[in-house]
Amino acid sequence: MTTPPIKHYLQFTDLSAGEYTYLIDRAALIKRKFKAYEKHHTLNDRTLAMIFEKASTRTRVSFEAGMYQLGGSVVHLTAQGSQLGRSEPIEDTARVISRMTDIVMIRTFEQARIERFAEFSRVPVINGLTNEYHPCQILADIFTFIEHRGPIAGKTVAWVGDGNNMANTWLQAADLLGFTVHVSTPSGYEVDEQLAFGSRTPRAGCYRVFDDPLQACRGADLVTTDVWTSMGYEAENEARRQAFADWCVDDAMMAVAQPQALFMHCLPAHRGEEVTAGVIDGPQSVVWDEAENRMHVQKALLEYLLLGRQAG
Ligand code: CP
Ligand code: NVA
Repeated sequence: MTTPPIKHYLQFTDLSAGEYTYLIDRAALIKRKFKAYEKHHTLNDRTLAMIFEKASTRTRVSFEAGMYQLGGSVVHLTAQGSQLGRSEPIEDTARVISRMTDIVMIRTFEQARIERFAEFSRVPVINGLTNEYHPCQILADIFTFIEHRGPIAGKTVAWVGDGNNMANTWLQAADLLGFTVHVSTPSGYEVDEQLAFGSRTPRAGCYRVFDDPLQACRGADLVTTDVWTSMGYEAENEARRQAFADWCVDDAMMAVAQPQALFMHCLPAHRGEEVTAGVIDGPQSVVWDEAENRMHVQKALLEYLLLGRQAG
């Protein structure tokens, strides 16, 4: 008997549009059961290892609580608290951890580092954020959009701010799932097409670049942003503070979006920098649903990577 190949989730493009349709439906069912206090122990006796080489609140809690709710258990490692912080090669770490656990989630710096881990892992590996991508967050954001507004295909998402891991992943999702991203970044902080699409030619019209963030928001169904300085780039803090001053989502930007437009932010947020308090705490903001939904979509993802499609 041949063993099926291991399925990793290192980038948004690692799953197909059909697999996303399944995952979104499955996450909705898992969320309904959670809200009704119904048991959903599909991962009894399975163990998730979580490796954090950067800080986290949402990713840690959503994966940890989610895995327990699926009947499994978790092991939590940090760089400082493990031999990773004392230069044990990532390949050796992968060989060891993947002999003792069933699935691994990693938050780290370069994408190349998680790819090296995955290459030597016997079990599925999930990207919990790298410098280049944040696929679990975009999965949660799309689920949240669909929950509030229905299908995202054909819709417009305005990205205001840094051309970072979130922006790259939004572009990958737009290409795959048939929506458009309006991107506005300060000069010098543009998205990198190579990171978003590799050697593939993106679907025509899947994204448009705007110099003016207000124009990017015009007619958008969703306006979204992120911190000016991502983890790992703190040395650039002051330069970024100056460059990003006009990339603050405010009432004027929300006013030119669709009247029903939503506001999202992956969090943590800095009120008064990338978004005003009025917008993030206002009626169009769905940031708390967005954060909660990390847990529901990731439960569906963990289950899918370990068990494949499930009925009921
Ligand atoms: N959005 C997100 O990934 O949050 P944390 O950094 O708190 O995990
Ligand atoms: N772009 C941010 C997202 C944090 C969840 C970062 O990488 O720090």
